[in-house]
Amino acid sequence: MQYSSAPMKIVQQSDLSAMERRLVRNAVAARKKAHAPYSHYKCGAALLDIRNRIHTGCNVETIDYTLTTHAEMDAINGMVKSGTFKLKALAVAVLAVKGPAFPCGLCRQKIREFAVSEETLIIAVGVDARSRIRTIGTATIGQLYPHAFTPNCVI
Ligand code: THU
Ligand code: ZN
Repeated sequence: MQYSSAPMKIVQQSDLSAMERRLVRNAVAARKKAHAPYSHYKCGAALLDIRNRIHTGCNVETIDYTLTTHAEMDAINGMVKSGTFKLKALAVAVLAVKGPAFPCGLCRQKIREFAVSEETLIIAVGVDARSRIRTIGTATIGQLYPHAFTPNCVI
């Protein structure tokens, strides 16, 4: 049996809405604040919550390697601290190597828990060394993380 990977779209900035482009800009800006002295892989994230507020995050590494905060998790924690628990869209920006990089598995679990639905859009932005946008990919959280482990599984 053959399994195909989840669909992902490569898009242009002009394909995105004004709000989605704002998220992209915020993720790229947040990436500049990343503290990644060990991996040198800087990540920035920006999410839109259901009150239409933007929360940003960046990765923060520590020498033990295990306490690292991922950019997406940092942005979600900021949203929670503001008193909101649902996000409508999330952009993540990293250095474009071969193409855009979507959130890791740990972040997919956390995003799914706080996403309004399976259709919540994830925008992966690849930038060059000077933070210029090189490539953008989009997918829904449902495509990135199908058959998720959610609170519905345990209630
Ligand atoms: N990283 C993120 O911030 N988000 C992801 O989803 C992928 C990985 C960070 C963690 C670590 O600081 C660096 O990227 C390399 O893994
Ligand atoms: Zn992650």
